[in-house]
Amino acid sequence: ELGDYQHYMQKEIFEQPQALAATLEMIGGAQTLTPNLFGVAAPEMLAGVRSVLILACGTSFHAGLVARYWIEQLAGIGCSVEIASEYRYRVSVPNPEQLVVAISQSGETADTLASIKHAKALGMGRTLAICNVPESAIVRECALRFLTRAGPEIGVASTKAFTTQLAALFLLAVTLAKQNGRLAPEHEAGHLKALRHLPVAVQKVLALEPDIKVWATRFADKHHALFLGRGHHYPIALEGALKLKEISYIHAEGYPAGELKHGPLALVDKDMPVISIAPNDALLEKLKSNLKEVAARGGELYVFADADSAVDEEAGVHVLRLPEHYGLLSPVLHVIALQLLSYHAALVKGTDVDKPRNLAKSVTVE
Ligand code: M6R
Repeated sequence: ELGDYQHYMQKEIFEQPQALAATLEMIGGAQTLTPNLFGVAAPEMLAGVRSVLILACGTSFHAGLVARYWIEQLAGIGCSVEIASEYRYRVSVPNPEQLVVAISQSGETADTLASIKHAKALGMGRTLAICNVPESAIVRECALRFLTRAGPEIGVASTKAFTTQLAALFLLAVTLAKQNGRLAPEHEAGHLKALRHLPVAVQKVLALEPDIKVWATRFADKHHALFLGRGHHYPIALEGALKLKEISYIHAEGYPAGELKHGPLALVDKDMPVISIAPNDALLEKLKSNLKEVAARGGELYVFADADSAVDEEAGVHVLRLPEHYGLLSPVLHVIALQLLSYHAALVKGTDVDKPRNLAKSVTVE
């Protein structure tokens, strides 16, 4: 089943172009989206949605955090994202009009399932599951559904499930933008075109594997690592850190770069590699000044830039360029580089990549 691959995780990382193409197949060559993508009841249920609550765990929670940037920016609709195990047990203020979105690869995660039941018990009936497994408990519990078509994911580390969730969430953001009267037809067609081109763009990132492998060998002997990002790449920094700790057991933390001075800078020295996501966007200059702070403290910087980013190699600063600058969908490309980085760091360390210690693929008990 593994074919030419050494591990399921590697196979699943490299399957991402197909997984994305399959997930996006239903939009075909369309220039315009219909809410029916999310189920027959969607046109009625999504109409008039003014606020969104996303519930999920782990990597799926990080997909939700990226979606918040998209939904607020494109649709002008408020969006909060909460860890399912927190939401289900806290006293919150219910909003019956809110759209509640559960994100789960397996559809069986106990806390995510319970959080949806909790929201429903509080009177919130507009529920949507974004899930990779049809007929799973979470899909059955929700009124609406969008099924990602990543195919079975065997490796415990979520890879292709995450990027297909992002594709689904981007479709949701565009759909909500349209329903909210915020989307010019040419912008809609542009977003769909960018989505359709994703498999090709992903392939180009996968081709960077040899360079990423060299980076991974350089810091695999470290005990700690810091991941930095800003804006919609901040959740990608969190996801990069989760991947690294999960499969290589290197302690890693993800931070929004603007928070450096508020604490984590104290940790930075020559033994603390800092991995930074630096696409050419409005926040690049701010990020660069954060990176200077790291360099000044002797920290070794590994910068994932893109084709257009004005970031240069210098002593202690290594730069790898992703081949395309991808605007709003750039998180999908940058996370793939980080998946490869943790995969290769784990290989160097010799850990069990597909079955990390103490973890289960699907957390069906609390
Ligand atoms: O099946 P789910 O998406 O609900 O799973 C949620 C988390 O358990 C999962 O994403 C976990 O964090 C991954 N192993 C991370 O790679």
